[in-house]
Amino acid sequence: MVDLEALEAEARASLAEAGDEAGLDSWRVEWLGRRGRLTAVLRGVRDLPAEERPLIGAGANRLKGELEDAVTARRAELLAAASDGPALDVTLPGRRPPMGSLHPITLTRRMMERTFRDMGFDVVEGPDVELEEYNFDRLRIPAGHPARDMWDTMWVADDGSGGPRQLLRTHTSPMQIRYLERRQPPIRVIVPGTCYRYEATDATHEWMLTQIEGLVIDEDLSFAHLKGTLEAFVRRVFGAEIETRFRCDYFPFVEPGAELGVRWQGDWLEVLGCGMVHPEIIEDAGLDPDRFTGFAFGMGVERVAMLRYGVRDIRHFYRNDIRFLSEFDQFRGSA
Ligand code: PHE
Repeated sequence: MVDLEALEAEARASLAEAGDEAGLDSWRVEWLGRRGRLTAVLRGVRDLPAEERPLIGAGANRLKGELEDAVTARRAELLAAASDGPALDVTLPGRRPPMGSLHPITLTRRMMERTFRDMGFDVVEGPDVELEEYNFDRLRIPAGHPARDMWDTMWVADDGSGGPRQLLRTHTSPMQIRYLERRQPPIRVIVPGTCYRYEATDATHEWMLTQIEGLVIDEDLSFAHLKGTLEAFVRRVFGAEIETRFRCDYFPFVEPGAELGVRWQGDWLEVLGCGMVHPEIIEDAGLDPDRFTGFAFGMGVERVAMLRYGVRDIRHFYRNDIRFLSEFDQFRGSA
């Protein structure tokens, strides 16, 4: 009976010794040629006893295929060893890894921040988990005051320690108070950050939103400074031609209070709440309200991003759908 294993070992050993193209050719003639040794085995199959035929036949055919592969591999090996440079072609273009891009809210937030920075504002952040006192009481919204209904609140569960009540801030305005505790006028600061409201969501409302708070305090500031600053801002963001309007609005921590609307494709859209900082808040900060005045504002970043990118439903922003998010790849680097 033919010993295929011994034959294979011998064939592979002699292939390993073939050192050039001529060596490969003569190896091929010896093993796989018309009179080659493996060819002879295959030819002899028909003369084998019937019970050996299938086994040897199949084995010899498989070996033929494997030796064909082996000679191809050996040729590649010899070629690689013979070429001057490395087998790796470093001049081929690289494969670019997927890059991702900044989230549309991050892009918009940074654009808005830069606009205020250019106007001389500082940028600070505050805590997302806030004390009831800062979110409400010290902004002149005491417990039981109907204005609390303007912000449906997510409270942090009471841990039973008897400590003060905590909540997820419903707006960035508590940072007005925190900043006034640490800084003296002149104050010119914006506070970007995430806020949370216990609200049903629809195309224009999310339970999580991003705000940019502004606070400006100095001597002799008037409503004209508020108007001039905010109009300059919206012109930078929406273009010099944008139409604006101020209308009265109520927020307990400003007096007077207003909302600023912009005319967008024929409709008036509210983009922010604002007003002159209430004299009691100035006084609580240890400042003389006859000498120091100022203004504050709070605007939604999602609203600006929706207008800027033509996004019709605010809920797209936090669904994490890669088809939506990859639309913003084109703005990579333009933040
Ligand atoms: N904090 C207010 C809101 O979330 C907006 C605001 C900020 C209004 C500052 C006036 C001044 O609705």
